[in-house]
Amino acid sequence: MKAEKGIAILTGGGDCPGINAVIRAVAKKAIYEKDMKVIGIEDGYDGLIRNRYRKLDYDDVSGILTLGGTILGTSKIANPYRYGVRKGEDLEFKDLSQVAIKNIKQLGVSCLVCIGGDGTLGIAYRFFRDGIPIVGVPKTIDNDLRGTDITFGFDSAVSIATEGIDRVHTTAQSHHRIMIVEVMGHKAGWIALHAGVAGGGDIILIPEIPYDIDIVAQKVKERGRKGKRFSIIVISEGAKPKGGEVVVQRIVKESSDPIRLGGISFILGEKIEKMTGIETRTVIMGHLQRGGSPTPFDRILATQLGTRAVDMIEKEEYGYMVAVKGNSFVKVSLEDVAIGPRTVPLDHPLVKSARSIGTCFGD
Ligand code: F6P
Repeated sequence: MKAEKGIAILTGGGDCPGINAVIRAVAKKAIYEKDMKVIGIEDGYDGLIRNRYRKLDYDDVSGILTLGGTILGTSKIANPYRYGVRKGEDLEFKDLSQVAIKNIKQLGVSCLVCIGGDGTLGIAYRFFRDGIPIVGVPKTIDNDLRGTDITFGFDSAVSIATEGIDRVHTTAQSHHRIMIVEVMGHKAGWIALHAGVAGGGDIILIPEIPYDIDIVAQKVKERGRKGKRFSIIVISEGAKPKGGEVVVQRIVKESSDPIRLGGISFILGEKIEKMTGIETRTVIMGHLQRGGSPTPFDRILATQLGTRAVDMIEKEEYGYMVAVKGNSFVKVSLEDVAIGPRTVPLDHPLVKSARSIGTCFGD
């Protein structure tokens, strides 16, 4: 890589604690060690289409390690290959990828670093096939990206969700209630599983294991017989009863992944209160899990992913995502990343551990 060459950085999809830590690591290493120019694309792929970007100097990325969100802005709906344009009530989709590609080429950079989940990295892979040098960095609180054991943002989300569970624990105990905590995760139960175990949830309901409401009620009653007059249920937003459907909160038509989940906890709460006779309350953790400062673990992971992304650029290893496998950092083809979510295997060691201490999964 020549000194006069530069890189552009883009953040796509939902925000997530640790994005700024990645931007900082990529930009600092590129500027400080490699003497490259760094450009930040604003609002994800929307900025590529609209040609909105700014130069990032060392000072711009200094002091952002602990900052939540993304200093560049993001978009969960802008897809240059299928860009939604509203015409009154109607919505038309246009392929604006050539506009975006022309804009990237005009930036005069040698590589585009895309920080995102499967949606963002799927689009990144299409750009790569269309001739744009790309390096991907795995981001999502859901931890559901294929090709990597872990994504940055997950640890922070689990830590926030666990704090939520801890806080309702004391109120559940005091009022002898059932408290239901609904957490994010989309089609994967990683956040519910980890926060559920960390917060001592009595019942953990995840999308991968459709639940039987009778079994959930039995577990609560069994606890009552043992003198435990309260129960904590941790439920993933994507969980569903056996033979039933997920609860859709809204449909974002412009989005390539239009379904937004949420609200299953209220349906479960109403039913379980009737079936057990125990007063029940529901808390949806929602976007609290995506905001605020990253945990130390995520800061460290984000810094390592960001600096390794620059190493890959230097070696011209394009079309890959930097990933974690066991204790190592590896590169994984973007082709193998954007192929649907990485869900919780039914025989996952944490599921087995939880079962062995009496945690109920509703099956
Ligand atoms: O992918 C991250 C995530 O927070 C999911 O857990 C959740 O289903 C979704 O995004 C929420 O999307 P939005 O920010 O559009 O409400």
